[in-house]
Amino acid sequence: ASGPRESIHPLPEVSTKMSAAASEARLSTGVLIIGSGAAGLRAAIAAHDAGVQPLVLGKRRRDDAHTVLAAGGINAVLGTMDPEDTIQQHVADTLNEGYWLGHPALVEALCEHAHEAVEDLVSLGARLAREQDGRLSQRFFGAHRYRRTCFAGDYTGREVQMSLLSGVQSRGIPMRDDLYITRLLTDGDRCFGAYGFSLDDGSRTVILADAVVLAAGGHTRIFRRSSSRRDENTGDAMRLALGAGAQLQDMELVQFHPTGMIVPEDVAGTLVTEAVRGEGGILRNGEGERFMERYDPERMELTTRDRLALANYTEIAEGRGTANGGVLLDITHLPADQILERLPRMYRQFIDLAMVDITRQPMEVAPTAHYSMGGVAVDPYNHRTAVDGLYAVGECAAGLHGANRLGGNSLAECVVFGAAVGRDAARDAMARTTVHRDPEALVLAREEIDHYLRGDGRDFARPLQRELRDIMSEHCGVVRDAAGLQAGMDRLDRLAEQARGVVARPDLAGYRDLATCFELDAMILSARATVRSAMERTESRGCHVRSDHPDLDPAQQHNLRIDADERVTAVPLPRPDASLLELGAVTAQASLAGRLLE
Ligand code: FUM
Repeated sequence: ASGPRESIHPLPEVSTKMSAAASEARLSTGVLIIGSGAAGLRAAIAAHDAGVQPLVLGKRRRDDAHTVLAAGGINAVLGTMDPEDTIQQHVADTLNEGYWLGHPALVEALCEHAHEAVEDLVSLGARLAREQDGRLSQRFFGAHRYRRTCFAGDYTGREVQMSLLSGVQSRGIPMRDDLYITRLLTDGDRCFGAYGFSLDDGSRTVILADAVVLAAGGHTRIFRRSSSRRDENTGDAMRLALGAGAQLQDMELVQFHPTGMIVPEDVAGTLVTEAVRGEGGILRNGEGERFMERYDPERMELTTRDRLALANYTEIAEGRGTANGGVLLDITHLPADQILERLPRMYRQFIDLAMVDITRQPMEVAPTAHYSMGGVAVDPYNHRTAVDGLYAVGECAAGLHGANRLGGNSLAECVVFGAAVGRDAARDAMARTTVHRDPEALVLAREEIDHYLRGDGRDFARPLQRELRDIMSEHCGVVRDAAGLQAGMDRLDRLAEQARGVVARPDLAGYRDLATCFELDAMILSARATVRSAMERTESRGCHVRSDHPDLDPAQQHNLRIDADERVTAVPLPRPDASLLELGAVTAQASLAGRLLE
């Protein structure tokens, strides 16, 4: 294994004026991993352990990747609290609550290997909560038949990120968290690397790679209220993949988490973890009514996220919300010590951001865009995209969660499939005997950056991002219809036209503004794919609620793929096994009454 090295395959010089002026570093690596959250780090460890030195790139500080925001837990069938739990039941819950749009092969692999993922994390030092006898503790998360969510208070994602980071660092795996990747480099249908610039000084780098893993997150920052922070989950992976010739899938399937903060406005959307409800939190409307009784009397606050988000949305839309336009999530009936021990982050978050003491006052919440269940289309057996040598994994990959993701399955997804993809990409890299590199790919990459830097337009990207987020929330939010989607698409057309004139203005503080231009492009592309696919899915299923097509249509139990020309095609799914259908139905009817606080 060796670190990034100067290229042993020099690239032809290209003599455009701008490119000659640009100083360009060159690196080469076996496996290039774009994204430094849990999926990317786990892939890096696996690739390294398989004998290939990877290079990990991120656009945020490595200890502050989006993974650190994942609060409540990671699922695995361990049977600590409920010994009757089985892998088959986890599979059934995941497929059933995803409205049978998840691919069974992916779901089965996730559930089968999740316990290894948790063991991995523990061996890397993750401090997950334990019972008195030393076994890993497990809490309820919504719509799981049994308690199978392992956790570290409500800092689980942070603990996962830090333990994987220590695994990466102890192996000496190189990482850069200052490079923004603008383009994947392809020769025909083969990916041979990526191109990017330094967020600090704008200097450019060509990275040649034998295999490339996209682990760069989702696209939920395209909505006004999002649980992602500024510059996170801006659809970068979707843009890179489409640009390289891959397809996207199920982009209309965006999970709105039922509980995001609503005040103060500048932090609206910030996640209020499902663990609050897992610990016994109760939802009330502005009239003080525990309204879940009317929506899912059996599962109440622990029903699926799509049902809860729609319930919260409906209460607010029908005028039963609070004065600030939310509903109340109340946990004040629990002992303060328990809240501080099990939900320390929520306690701190509400004190710091809203000056609310959640041991004494309810939290005001409303739905927030939280997770991309769609993303880059991958082969469900190996996470390869349609582009040779290009993989996608983690939130940016489609196919696992269907129309509603179960809480706690995403951290499991990152670790389980991160490991598998890292191994496969390493094998792929080692098997490569010939290298083809199209110099034209570099010309295009350079031109793209030059375009933003030499532009003489007056528009900044940031205000257009804000406008896009408003458009998406108004026209493609929790509830959609044909007229609204068309109106949204028309506004996106105009916005895309305006975005042609944006110009990057780097300054003494660095080149963040240039990245914002690329992110705007990624957000427009992802938003268009989302609206276009939402138009195509003329039914209501899970998170995708069409007021003009209120029923689920069994004929639409397929995935929707979209290509760079915005052509949408339906891709059939294997028929679900009858025993899984039965097991799934059991969970949907199960009552959790009295079992929460055991
Ligand atoms: O609510 C939460 O803690 C989120 C967890 C998840 O998205 O899996």
